[in-house]
Amino acid sequence: MRSAAAAYPAGDEVLIRIEDLWRDFVMRSGTIHALAGVSLDIRRGRTLALVGESGSGKTTLGNQILGTDTPTSGRILFEGRDMPARRDTQMRRRIQVVQQSPYTTLNPKRTVRQILDLPLSIHDGGPRRQRRERIAELLEIVGIPSDFMERHPHSLSGGQRQRVALARALASKPDVIVLDEPTSSLDVSVQARILRLLVDLQARYGLTYLFITHDLSVVRNIADEVAVLYRGHVVEHGTTPELFRAPRHRYTTMLLSSIPVLSEEEEALKPAWDWDVTATAAEPPSTGTCPFLPRCPHAVASCSLGVPPRVATSPTNWHACCNPRPEGADADAR
Ligand SMILES: Nc1ncnc2c1ncn2[C@@H]1O[C@H](COP(=O)(O)OP(=O)(O)OP(=O)(O)O)[C@@H](O)[C@H]1O
Ligand SMILES: [Mg+2]
Repeated sequence: MRSAAAAYPAGDEVLIRIEDLWRDFVMRSGTIHALAGVSLDIRRGRTLALVGESGSGKTTLGNQILGTDTPTSGRILFEGRDMPARRDTQMRRRIQVVQQSPYTTLNPKRTVRQILDLPLSIHDGGPRRQRRERIAELLEIVGIPSDFMERHPHSLSGGQRQRVALARALASKPDVIVLDEPTSSLDVSVQARILRLLVDLQARYGLTYLFITHDLSVVRNIADEVAVLYRGHVVEHGTTPELFRAPRHRYTTMLLSSIPVLSEEEEALKPAWDWDVTATAAEPPSTGTCPFLPRCPHAVASCSLGVPPRVATSPTNWHACCNPRPEGADADAR
């Protein structure tokens, strides 16, 4: 979450490398390729936003990184080393999660203190008194008054619960936090405050975020890089300013066109969306063609010949589209 430059600064370290990751769910009705060959890098101290509509595989990918689910094939490297499917305590400490609904992820029977004490006890937070001090410190870090310690989650507001969820994630001093729609259940003003807190925490602790969201306006404000997921495929990836300025994949164009805007100037900057917005992703997933083929009005013959290869458009950005939106396309020519 820094003011993203167009290229990676020298020495920008890859913390997590995802290589050709597949996750199949075998159902009676057929096999769902929730992840269909995902390869991505997550850089230390940066925010990678994972965007895509419902069912595109965002949470499934987050779960692979967290180690709460096992891939069908492929691998994930952490600091250059293979992460085993079964994570040890140390690795679990280093990768934490904050999920969408603080209503369901905080145990209603426990007090805030008990909720925060659990990760501290697991990850060697020292004797009781020391843990209590750390809990007070964690609450201060996330902006919760320390006299909330003996409260239960039901007596907190949505924003306060999400702050407690964040404090719980921070308790083990992680390197990475997977943020799965962390603000989508909150009011816009509360959402903005939580996002600001996330930005501050990242700057303070050098945290790395995988930020999963539907909300592209949030992405624009906080992500350094964006990966666009469509039916388990990353169809476009790059630094946020460049991806927003010049989206190339037709699906990215469609997503960006649906962002609500406040002014006519902003509207004019949006790429046009020139096909039926109600078309849904009901078609069966295909691994032998471009995954977006059934919905794409710009399809050409090569789209059905295989999954399109990655095409680099700059040192940082690439797309996987056979007939991309032309570079520099304006409002009338795309
Ligand atoms: N445990 C499971 N069993 C069967 N199918 C699953 C399972 N988990 C996920 N899927 C399927 O995998 C695909 C990706 O699901 P996932 O939850 O990762 O999507 P998502 O992008 O997080 O969606 P949303 O935005 O709604 O949270 C979907 O088709 C989903 O139905
Ligand atoms: Mg999800």
